[in-house]
Formats: sequence, C-alpha cells, structure tokens
Amino acid sequence: MGGAGYIGSHVCKTLKQAGFSPVVYDNMHNGHSWAVKWGPLVQGDLLDTAALDQAFQTYHPAAVIHLASYIDCRESMTHPGKYYQNNVVGTLQLLETMVRHRVDKIVFSSSAAVYGKPLQVPIAEDHDCGPINVYGKTKWLAEQMLEDFFHAHQLRSVSLRYFNAAGADESGEIGEAHTPETHLIPLAILAALGKNPSFKIFGTDHLTPDGTPIRDFIHVSDLAEAHVKALRWLLEGGTKIALNLGSGKGYSIQEVLAVIEQKVGSVPHQVAPRNLSDPPVLVADISAAQKVLKWMPQKSDLATIISSAVEWHKKE
Ligand SMILES: NC(=O)c1ccc[n+]([C@@H]2O[C@H](COP(=O)([O-])OP(=O)(O)OC[C@H]3O[C@@H](n4cnc5c(N)ncnc54)[C@H](O)[C@@H]3O)[C@@H](O)[C@H]2O)c1
Repeated sequence: MGGAGYIGSHVCKTLKQAGFSPVVYDNMHNGHSWAVKWGPLVQGDLLDTAALDQAFQTYHPAAVIHLASYIDCRESMTHPGKYYQNNVVGTLQLLETMVRHRVDKIVFSSSAAVYGKPLQVPIAEDHDCGPINVYGKTKWLAEQMLEDFFHAHQLRSVSLRYFNAAGADESGEIGEAHTPETHLIPLAILAALGKNPSFKIFGTDHLTPDGTPIRDFIHVSDLAEAHVKALRWLLEGGTKIALNLGSGKGYSIQEVLAVIEQKVGSVPHQVAPRNLSDPPVLVADISAAQKVLKWMPQKSDLATIISSAVEWHKKE
C-alpha cells in the first residue's frame, strides 16, 4: 500500500531483490508511475473497499506492507479531518479487508512523531507516546488498532517508527519526489542547486550546541532493508512489535548544511521563528531493531545520505 511513493518504491526494489513479488496498491495522489518497476501497479484507494477486495482476490498477498498515508505534519494541524480520514479510517478499512481475506501479517509505516516531545534521548520504544500533531496522532491510533486487531483476530504486525528518511537509491533510478516537498535535506539541496530560492531554518535558539534542532537521518535504502527483515520476522512466526528505525546518531541542521555546502556550494537560507512545539533533539535508540531484525544501517552516515540525494536532485 503506497508503493508508488518515495519510501515504498525503495521498499519494492529491495523486496524484489530479496526474492519477493511486490504488488503496489496506490491511489497515485502522491505516487509516481515511473517509480513502480518491480511488480504490477493497482490504482486504488484505501477507502475503496470494493477495489481493495478485488486486489486481494486477484493477488492473494502473503502479507501487507502499509506505507500509504498523508505525511505533512503542518498540514495535518490545519486539515485534521483529511488526515484522520485517510490515515486512520483508511488503515481501518485495510485491516478489515485483511481479516476478510485471512491475511494476517502487516508491516506498518509509523513515525517518531508518535513520541511527541521526548523526555529522554535517545528515544527507546518504551518511551511514553504523546504525539503533539495530528499526523503523529493518526500514526499512534493506527498502532493502537494493530494492537486490538492482534488480540481479536491474531493479526500480526511490525510497526516501524521511522525517524527522518533521506537519500536515494544508488542507481539514481528512484529518489525523493514529494510535491510539495517539506523535508529538510531535499529542501536544503534544492536551495543549494538554485532550484528553490532559499532554505528556512526554524529557530537558531533551540537548546542544542549550535542552536539548531538535532535530528536522526536514515538512508532510505537502509529503511527498505529493514522492511524486508520485518517481513521475514513475521513469516518466521513473529507476533507483534514496534521498532524504531534511525541511524542512532543526531546531526544539527547547521551540520547538515555544512555537508551540503561542501558537496554543492552555499545554501541560501533565512532564519524563521522557532516552532514552539519542535523538539530540540530527536534521536533514536535503535538497539531493539538491531537485535530483533538483525539489521544494521549501512548507508546512513550523513555524507553518504547527502551525496545520494544530491545526485538524485541534480537529475530531477
Ligand atoms: N518520509 C519520511 O521521512 C517519513 C518519516 C516517518 C514516517 N513516514 C511514513 O512513511 C510512509 C511513506 O512515506 P513517503 O515519504 O514515502 O510518502 P509518499 O507520499 O511519497 O508515499 C505515500 C504513498 O501513499 C499513497 N497514498 C496515500 N494515501 C493513499 C490512499 N488513501 N490510498 C492509496 N494510496 C495512498 C500516495 O499516493 C503515495 O504514493 C508514510 O506512511 C509516512 O507517514 C515517512
């Protein structure tokens, strides 16, 4: 679900390389047909149960990887209904369809946004969840539905709580292409390449060494690899778990800009007022994913992430 999007297309490529046969189900609102190369594309919406039934009847999936959602935290605050409808009701329709068709395994794209403003960093999975935006609440509600569907219907799940996904496949054939783009690394690269006028830093007065927020970036290919391992964990009898996916290291926005400047040239930027709800530091404790999935990020150092993203955005 959502396999025509940024992360979904990288997941499909990795699935195919690992011997699986991915079928993409996507309404194409934010997906790209050029990004669907490793299996059939079914154009359909999560909210369309007849189309979902038809897809399940045609393909008899062994499991579902559910990446389909709206993803813009800021927009979620001004259009909450849009987010609850798509991300929560859409997920509910999907889970009901899975139960009807006796498909009992799902890997779900959750987010670090479920933690809200963390009290301890690095953040482990047993940290309290208290999302502070509607987007994060939709992810947390979906995780709670997975808990209830496990108890009632033995539907087994891995919720992957991604931190900041970034970078592009090394072949250059797929990469990040959101419209509008809201993510930090592509926005800064597009400004450096002269494709966007300027990059906005939201606050230089955060409680961090250089005053800019610190975030944990994970290469999209490392994320994709973790999905294959999560699927295998379920196929081998795993029951239900939520796991953080990040690199386990934090970089400030200034540090990100410095790496982009080395590779591309100066990043024209302006400082905008800090968003009071922005946590100063978000860094994942990834020891649980490393242990349970036997997974280790391989490409998530900042230089590799940024080089791959720069190559992609130069061509885009
Ligand atoms: N990009 C990140 O850094 C990040 C971080 C944390 C979590 N996530 C989660 O990862 C997932 C994928 O993110 P992405 O960056 O690839 O986003 P994306 O927008 O590129 O991909 C999402 C895909 O889902 C599809 N979709 C949305 N609603 C649908 C619906 N109702 N029916 C069918 N298809 C639908 C879109 O058309 C799109 O192709 C999302 O669930 C997002 O919340 C992303």
